[in-house]
Amino acid sequence: MRSHYCGEINASHLDETVELCGWVNRRRDHGGVIFIDLRDRTSLVQVVYDPDLPEVFASAEQVRNEFVLRIKGRVRRRPEGTENPDLASGEIEILGKELEILNRADTPPFQLDEDDINEELRLRHRYIDLRRPLMQQRILLRAQVTRLLRRFLDDNGFLDIETPMLTRATPEGARDYLVPSRTHAGKFFALPQSPQLFKQLLMMSGMDRYYQITRCFRDEDLRADRQPEFTQLDIETSFMDEQQITELMERMIRGLFKEVLAIDLPDPFPRMTYHDAMHRYGSDRPDLRTDLELVDVGDLLAGVEFKVFSGPANDPHGRVAALRLPKGGELSRKEIDDYTKFVGIYGAKGLAYIKVNDLSRGVEGLQSPILKFIPDEVVQAIMARTAAADGDLVFFGADKAHIVNESLGALRVKLAEERGLMHKPWAPLWVVDFPMFEWDEKDQWYALHHPFTAPKEEDLPRLESDPGSVLSRAYDMVINGSEVGGGSIRIHRQEIQHKVFGLLGIGDEEAQDKFGFLLNALKYGCPPHGGLAFGLDRLIMLMSGASSIRDVMAFPKTQTASCPLTSAPSEVSAAQLKELNIRIKLPQREQPPEEG
Ligand code: AMO
Ligand code: AMP
Repeated sequence: MRSHYCGEINASHLDETVELCGWVNRRRDHGGVIFIDLRDRTSLVQVVYDPDLPEVFASAEQVRNEFVLRIKGRVRRRPEGTENPDLASGEIEILGKELEILNRADTPPFQLDEDDINEELRLRHRYIDLRRPLMQQRILLRAQVTRLLRRFLDDNGFLDIETPMLTRATPEGARDYLVPSRTHAGKFFALPQSPQLFKQLLMMSGMDRYYQITRCFRDEDLRADRQPEFTQLDIETSFMDEQQITELMERMIRGLFKEVLAIDLPDPFPRMTYHDAMHRYGSDRPDLRTDLELVDVGDLLAGVEFKVFSGPANDPHGRVAALRLPKGGELSRKEIDDYTKFVGIYGAKGLAYIKVNDLSRGVEGLQSPILKFIPDEVVQAIMARTAAADGDLVFFGADKAHIVNESLGALRVKLAEERGLMHKPWAPLWVVDFPMFEWDEKDQWYALHHPFTAPKEEDLPRLESDPGSVLSRAYDMVINGSEVGGGSIRIHRQEIQHKVFGLLGIGDEEAQDKFGFLLNALKYGCPPHGGLAFGLDRLIMLMSGASSIRDVMAFPKTQTASCPLTSAPSEVSAAQLKELNIRIKLPQREQPPEEG
């Protein structure tokens, strides 16, 4: 139906007759002349109709926004002074000779060029929302990214292999989405939280290098970078160690950034231990675009009277840390109060600070509500350790270590964003040397990655005697504070898998029931193997600069895991439920009122 896309036409087509198809972005009536901005996936082009052709002109008069048209016309230069440098076709316009209305459109529920469109409305009419150039760019970028990733993996000998969607629960730590079985009354499939076990089985099957761009399902609390149904680029290899895998993977990501964004990421990516990341940045996915750092000061404050500090300083699970903000002396009372509220979100009970006015005057040159509680020499020691300079401000967090880490970790990123302290546009790194296990509130060990992650060989002797000290062979790729991917070398020996299950409180019977197939497979010749999975949506979010994961998915779910477009999830018929042997019992308050 068309000879060109709208965005292809430029001054090189002058005097040519072209045929275009697309949507009416805007129609303007300029006293006897009608201008139509026609839009397709590529861009806009301006089409002009004048009354010389009365029949065509009459059609043009009927046209409204979002009508679908096929037009034919001659390319001509725009009159001087009316060029639009923002458009690929901005030097030219098309003098319309034909106009066919392929379809009409009701007035759209929102203007496509509005800035702040209600998201629920956008999602309900996603087919219109996706027509917006910004959304089209993101979806195009996504397609480009997956194309390049596939090409890299194909070129490197990886096989694209599908794994089941109807399967058993996989332990990635979230709640499962379940699917009732009709043929096995009372039984359920779980949608995969990841293809983890299948990709390991594929290594045992001798496939050597596997990848898959696949959907994963996790019923968890949603955030700006989490969806219940999201896409992983999932990868597994045999006979490669963590060094080789991470090198190959960062080569892929470097190439991707270069080709799509013309950005040179560092070669190699820096590596940081989990321990350092937590201590210096309060996070296992540190944002290294800023060099703001947390500094431990608990040892200096353990002996002070001020319980807010000495309490956590003497608590083995506590932490007291300082965060120096260069030029923070400029902060107003109100700004400090706002930051105090901000850390409150993470459970911090306060946000002590010291303003550094004039270090040459000793403690006299400092300003803070807490100075009266802390001996001068301790204050001086803190100033020295944080390398505070005149004009700076030093924040303090004192609490359980996880609260201090989460609150000051988030604060450093917020401060850097708001105070112009993001010094690099891109900061990728690998976080390595994770502990195998952490002790949780329920007084049991849980796996920091998943239970199939291998412990470091040299730590194996302490696996049972001191599990807390054992490091794993896991690695996470972090870019700008976002965990874009993670993986590990896996356990490939049955006796170690067995021990790890035991430590995690998964008894023999449960292990056999849930993972018997894996334990069995480990007995029949399992190669050493490892891999990782990238959160494709998160990667594209970063690359496109979108602030919500929903903006890089064609049909995402809302924060409450529903779809305004299709109204899923929905009720199903009594007949369907009966077939599945399911009876619905709503919680009391949600019971519909009795009828009659
Ligand atoms: P993990 O659970 O770390 O590892 O997931 C891998 C990556 O997937 C992304 N991700 C998500 N993205 C959007 N919404 C979510 N709800 C969500 N959850 C995770 C993250 C994360 O880094 N089987 C292992 C991988 C392996 O060991 O090979 C796994 O799934 O970017
Ligand atoms: P208070 O004695 O509770 O008035 O606190 C004195 C100062 O210490 C205030 O600036 C509080 O914001 C701060 N503060 C209180 N609790 C904490 C905490 N857990 N961590 C850091 N600062 C705190």
